Amino acid sequence: MKKEMTMANNKLVIFDTTLRDGEQSPGASMTGSEKLRIAKVLEKLNVDIIEAGFPIASKGDAEAVKNIAKTIKNSTICGLARAINKDIDVAGESLKPANSARIHTFIATSEIHMQKKLNMSKEEVTDQAVRAIKRIQKYTNNIEFSPEDAGRSDFDFLCAIIEKAIKAGATTINIPDTVGYCIPDEYGDLIKRLINNIPNSDKAIFSTHCQNDLGLASANSLAGVINGARQVECTINGLGERAGNASLEEVVMTVKTRQDLFSCETQVVTDFIVPASKLVSSITGFSVQPNKAIVGANAFAHESGIHQDGVLKHRETYEIMKAEDVGWLKNKIVLGKHSGRNALRTRLSEIGYEIKNSEELNILFDKFKDLADIKHEIYDDDLHALISNTSNDDNSLNYNLISIKSSSDSSSEPHSEVVLEKNGKNFKSESNGGGPVDATFKAIEKIVRSNSKLQLYSVNNITDGTDSLGDVTARIEKEGVIVNGVGSDTDIVIASAKAYLDAINKLSNKTEIVHPQDHE
Ligand code: KIV
Repeated sequence: MKKEMTMANNKLVIFDTTLRDGEQSPGASMTGSEKLRIAKVLEKLNVDIIEAGFPIASKGDAEAVKNIAKTIKNSTICGLARAINKDIDVAGESLKPANSARIHTFIATSEIHMQKKLNMSKEEVTDQAVRAIKRIQKYTNNIEFSPEDAGRSDFDFLCAIIEKAIKAGATTINIPDTVGYCIPDEYGDLIKRLINNIPNSDKAIFSTHCQNDLGLASANSLAGVINGARQVECTINGLGERAGNASLEEVVMTVKTRQDLFSCETQVVTDFIVPASKLVSSITGFSVQPNKAIVGANAFAHESGIHQDGVLKHRETYEIMKAEDVGWLKNKIVLGKHSGRNALRTRLSEIGYEIKNSEELNILFDKFKDLADIKHEIYDDDLHALISNTSNDDNSLNYNLISIKSSSDSSSEPHSEVVLEKNGKNFKSESNGGGPVDATFKAIEKIVRSNSKLQLYSVNNITDGTDSLGDVTARIEKEGVIVNGVGSDTDIVIASAKAYLDAINKLSNKTEIVHPQDHE
């Protein structure tokens, strides 16, 4: 049956999946309190839906989703569940405290996934999807269904299963290009044909979910919107499984900047985009490339003389957006060495971090004073780093850095001595190395004996100037498990030691997790 697509709905729903698909990026796993901090900034961004996690993945993720559901009141909180009872029940329980909850269930529909992964027929897959959607109604009527790998699925089968899913109660139909295989014309056309051919398509919102394997995730999502999709699934900085997901900032700013082409709008408060980007990058250790659209350090910088001259005469000669509209100027000097506790507490709250009690305030205030002694001018980014360095995930089995003494001079081999503490006990060690960082890592490894491999080590300055905090990411791998550690300090050897220890602690706390694509 063919029916004309209507596009009366001019609201584009922004479904942020940084805390679910983003977290599936190797090494990007986050603790519960880190997820909550990001959720608070997503709420300030005014995203419509926050996919907070995959609650069956682990007890920690179920708890994180529950805490987010308890705390965030202005965005709908969503949990992912495979189309099986236990996933749905755990998601439903975790979402109970939410003001507004959604459960997102999925099952694969491409020939290759059904045959090789699920070993199920089309009928079995359809029945399982319908059963899952009915079970979700025990918990909520806000139900999203995804035919996984829709981008490579048979069109007639997709129409048939989606029609049944809507009839069973699904209110959002998400069309995942799970392997990032589609190109924009093809994906846009798929959305249009589905909406036009499924008889009850007007009873659901169609959504895009595009992976970035060919670098087309944002372009594909936008093609979907032009062709009738009214929800986009996306992540801050385009974080996500493998090459990532559609980037929230690119999608939102394209729709805003090209209102001549899009017949819909988002309700995102765009001046929180850059703060959100910086927070996600500092928590996950995935730094943003300088030439990344919207949130890269060079996104609004003009190097060539001709461009600079043009921009000074008339900004729009070379700029299509204003830097301040996406939050670039939010990073002002906020505090200094004379600022008091109240000023610190107030500014932390403004950037999305609520201090729980006076003990926490005292710890942060001491660290703030130490930093202000060295750095004088404290920016929002410094405060984010300060919080990231002050973990509230109490764990007596973590190693803490007590002291470090490292030396490098041009005439002798670099040397480092470290003292770590774990469970009330101190451990000392020393080592030489190729440089002070290498010597420090070797000294730490003598104590912790992680036998992990360092996969990535990177240093960035958080703000300008040589007195800036250095932000270090250390990614380590052991037996296929990858974790990122982050650390910052005005001394990059200390920042490196903190990042390495953070990674070691994450590796040893990592429990067995279920991945959404694992089949039972
Ligand atoms: O990429 C994918 O197919 C997914 C689904 C669970 C929506 O992440």
